[in-house]
Amino acid sequence: MNGDATTDRLSAEEIDDVGSNASQNATMGDIIAERLSRRELMSGLLAVSAISAVAAPISMLTACSQPASATPSFNFTEVAAGSDGRHHVADGYNADVLIRWGDKVLSNAPEFDVGAQTGERQATQFGYNNDFLHFIPLDGRSDHGLLVVNHEYTNSELMFPGIDPTAGPGKSYEAATRNRVDVEMMAHGGTVIEVKRDKGKWGVVPNSVFARRLTAETEMLISGPAAGHERMRTSDDASGMRVRGMINNCGGAVTPWGTWLSCEENFNLYFHGKGALDTAPGAAALKRYGVPSERYPWAKFHDRFNIAKEPNEPNRFGWVVEIDPLDPTSVPVKRTALGRFKHEGAGNVINGDGRFVVYQGDDQRFDYVYRFVTKGVVDTRNRAANKDLLDQGTLYVARFDADGTGVWLPLEHGQGPLTAAAGFKDQGDVVIFARLAADLVGATKMDRPEDIDVNPRTNKVYLMLTSNSDRSSASVDAANPRPANTFGHIIEITPDGNDHAAPRFSWEILLKCGDPAVAAVGATFNPLTTKNGWFANPDNCVIDGGGRLWVATDGNSKEATGRTDGIWGVETKGSARGTSKLFFQCPAGAEMCGPAFTPDDQTFFVAVQHPAQSPSREQVSTFDKPLHRWPETDPQSKMPPRPAIVAITRKGGGKIAV
Ligand code: FEO
Ligand code: CA
Ligand code: CA
Repeated sequence: MNGDATTDRLSAEEIDDVGSNASQNATMGDIIAERLSRRELMSGLLAVSAISAVAAPISMLTACSQPASATPSFNFTEVAAGSDGRHHVADGYNADVLIRWGDKVLSNAPEFDVGAQTGERQATQFGYNNDFLHFIPLDGRSDHGLLVVNHEYTNSELMFPGIDPTAGPGKSYEAATRNRVDVEMMAHGGTVIEVKRDKGKWGVVPNSVFARRLTAETEMLISGPAAGHERMRTSDDASGMRVRGMINNCGGAVTPWGTWLSCEENFNLYFHGKGALDTAPGAAALKRYGVPSERYPWAKFHDRFNIAKEPNEPNRFGWVVEIDPLDPTSVPVKRTALGRFKHEGAGNVINGDGRFVVYQGDDQRFDYVYRFVTKGVVDTRNRAANKDLLDQGTLYVARFDADGTGVWLPLEHGQGPLTAAAGFKDQGDVVIFARLAADLVGATKMDRPEDIDVNPRTNKVYLMLTSNSDRSSASVDAANPRPANTFGHIIEITPDGNDHAAPRFSWEILLKCGDPAVAAVGATFNPLTTKNGWFANPDNCVIDGGGRLWVATDGNSKEATGRTDGIWGVETKGSARGTSKLFFQCPAGAEMCGPAFTPDDQTFFVAVQHPAQSPSREQVSTFDKPLHRWPETDPQSKMPPRPAIVAITRKGGGKIAV
């Protein structure tokens, strides 16, 4: 972890997006030859790029040859891009706050009192920084179901009075109190709530039997190749089979059998003990994972977060956690076969042959895209039969070649370089140190791979690459073609033969993001895109029932792009391909997470994360002096801004954006 970055940046995610990948496997070869790839040459795009860096090469070609009436399929009036302390949705839609940080989840939860918060109270209430969410229907209904929600991290400076976010982690550690740490640990994890739509309006069902909070202390099991492994054993758990809590759960997914895959991302932020780094067992691996980052002061009160005392504890985080939301007494399971890294989501599909395939991004500059293919097949009629399906299968990492094709490289012990001689004694070592294994097989270093989702109608896979301003002109490659990639891009992957387990795939860049009116940016939105419709920093995504792609962003702001983060509908088909339209805009300082549709496409749930977070070191926003107090509307209120879930519905009913 880069210490300088820690002091210069304020947002937890920005702190952590500094690459730790020192391996040599950049996509090599002649950079010019790569950029002018066979694919681009074949499709004649080079000529277009040379004529104009403003317009989208792909879409420009198609748009020029199509009637001017070509329009994207998203039918709504765009929001005007901008930035203020409110949320905005397209005309004709309601966007109602459903649940906020501190709201009641369990039946014994007290009313939220921000001045009297304790860990005990927080453990019964809605957590902080809602990220991934998904609607799971009850009895097949679209107006009644469960919402599963990740709580990624905490913004101490907005939760508690008197905290200066510019003071740096050292001062934060000194000042941290036991109560503050308790609250933060209980505000992490996840939530299950029962929700119902009544007379058009969504509400949380009180005292639901499904209601559940998961926290940084919830007992969980470890399964798969790393279960019981010597590197998973600690003084708290000599078996290496159990772990307390899940942390920094960012993206996720729901399986076809209705379990929730909640993905641990920047777990390194919680570990301390830099002084012990060089002498700790597995020092190189700790560094490759950015451990210890020393961002959160939990180690002050919990030895397990100090690597000098518990060098194996970090190995117990960075996994995909499977949770059964229908059984609030079920024990969550960390499925280690899917690999350990900074997971974003877990976009998945039942392959044509019945096997289950999970696509995964490792969200860090210069890290990789992974795929897991189960050994067994999904039983669509017997839910219980899929209970341990994720424990056996093959983990792969992606190499994107310059000719527009790619290869899934297996990470299997004993294959290729993954041998004891290279430090991998067994498959447990391979999954625990998946990043190091991926380094050795020659994976392609990407520009922060975030969500990946499969369009089940077309079998195309959409990969969000948020940004990578550290990429230099010497390290660009065909799949990450922009030096200093501030604005991010989206790649469309097509598995060979529509087989998600196939060894090869083809790919092309759907969009290079940023302001298309600035030639130097090199954005490639379809010229049909308005000045409101372009965006930067794609992060989360979802495919609606009509097979359309919706993109949520992280990193837009008044200062960076003249707009806050939000949700954009992005056309992937026909002559309007590459066109984007702004549907929902976050309050300033917030990041857009979620998003999820009900099966009938009539409700769009979105997660507003860290509203009013400081936009810069010069403009610091705190509990005592917040940028704004969203979603609070009472001007007299002293309530701090609160992360919240918003339910978007069409006035008068009907599907979203049709
Ligand atoms: Fe937590 Fe990668 O976003
Ligand atoms: Ca994300
Ligand atoms: Ca995010």
